[in-house]
Amino acid sequence: LQTLKVNQTRLLSDLHHTCQWGTGQPWGPRAKPTETGMSRLALSGADKLARDWFVDTTKALGCNVSVDAMGNIFAVRPGRRDGSANAPPTCAGSHLDTQPMGGRYDGILGVVAGVEMLRVLEENGVETAFPVGVVNWTNEEGARFPISMVSSGVWAGEIPLERAHSLREVGGGTATMRSELERIKYLEPMAASHEAMPLAAHFELHIEQGPVLEGEKQKIGIVEGVQAYRWFTVEVVGRGAHTGTTPFPARADAMLAAARMIALSHDIATQHAGGLASTGILTLRPGSVNTIPSTVTFSLDIRAPRDSTLDTMESEMKRAFARIASKDVTRALDLAVNWQTDSVSPAVHFHEDCISVVEDAAASVLGNAGLSRRMVSGAGHDSVYTSRRCPTGMIFVPSRNGVSHHPEEYTSPEDCAIGAEVLMQSVLRYDRL
Ligand code: GLV
Ligand code: MN
Ligand code: MN
Ligand code: MN
Repeated sequence: LQTLKVNQTRLLSDLHHTCQWGTGQPWGPRAKPTETGMSRLALSGADKLARDWFVDTTKALGCNVSVDAMGNIFAVRPGRRDGSANAPPTCAGSHLDTQPMGGRYDGILGVVAGVEMLRVLEENGVETAFPVGVVNWTNEEGARFPISMVSSGVWAGEIPLERAHSLREVGGGTATMRSELERIKYLEPMAASHEAMPLAAHFELHIEQGPVLEGEKQKIGIVEGVQAYRWFTVEVVGRGAHTGTTPFPARADAMLAAARMIALSHDIATQHAGGLASTGILTLRPGSVNTIPSTVTFSLDIRAPRDSTLDTMESEMKRAFARIASKDVTRALDLAVNWQTDSVSPAVHFHEDCISVVEDAAASVLGNAGLSRRMVSGAGHDSVYTSRRCPTGMIFVPSRNGVSHHPEEYTSPEDCAIGAEVLMQSVLRYDRL
């Protein structure tokens, strides 16, 4: 089994084939057909077509395919050992949805690498002891329905199904996760739960989405865990007024206060080890050039390696924002600040068995040439939630210029294939543990 190789050409052709659904921005005026980004929001028409491809392809490869109430898709290839028919599968998993202006590799690589694993097992007639499979998790990005990793979260029993189903799309539309699942026909009766669909283990191949591997000329990241993060929506409520007639002391300018809060969230984060703070969504009402904004809402994404650091950052920001909204600082009127917590993802350490399986698999694929390193993920992944319910491990491959969540996201075909091979070897090794 150590000699099984993935077919790099086929892997990349699957990847680019699925990118015909939801093709996004080209990199430049003379981009090749494969040099565009992706815009495949979860549960869109494009996502449905990519899902249909996944279902049809894995069925043709001999898998039993099941879909749960969150639209998670599990493709399972039976094992050979007596009594393994109902044993939980060891799965490769990731996501087919993308950012609105995302790339071709985030998530997609992990799913198509799982499909390539199935192809290699089929063409070589490999019989695993226990079932193995591939999972496509719904709305990992949280870009359309604003909780990231929401469907693996429901599967893990960490997010209530009703809360996930009633999530409304970003941007004020009326669609909910449930209505969109129904519309694209991926709402099934099977409970979205680790009890209805237990996994023996979960391995996720993903692009690093950062600069470390490339900078160190490493080929594989053996992921030990994921840093903690929290998402909030902060609402600042002041008072709308005429910009030409309202002197500064008579204002309650929600935008000015929000700007100060965002800048200060950055300063607070820099004072903590590994702390990060970012705002990606900003909404001003009423949104008129000559009216002082009455209400501003902004997203706040804070991250740190340790939960305790994040606790401190959160409380410092809450205190600081309250101060900024008070008339002492505005030198005008008081404003109100309301915090809503959208997502909480605690720091994760993966299962030692999976970390060493990935490490051994990387050594067998790369030889012992020192081309891999252990690392912690800065981004969230469905593996965060699977790790609560089954042994979980992750494999990173280099991202060119460390770029992700951008059309120019790129990982070379060779690196994609190396990652897919480490993924396959990890699953096969776990099956024999
Ligand atoms: C989720 O994928 C995140 O890291 O934002
Ligand atoms: Mn991803
Ligand atoms: Mn992403
Ligand atoms: Mn992610």
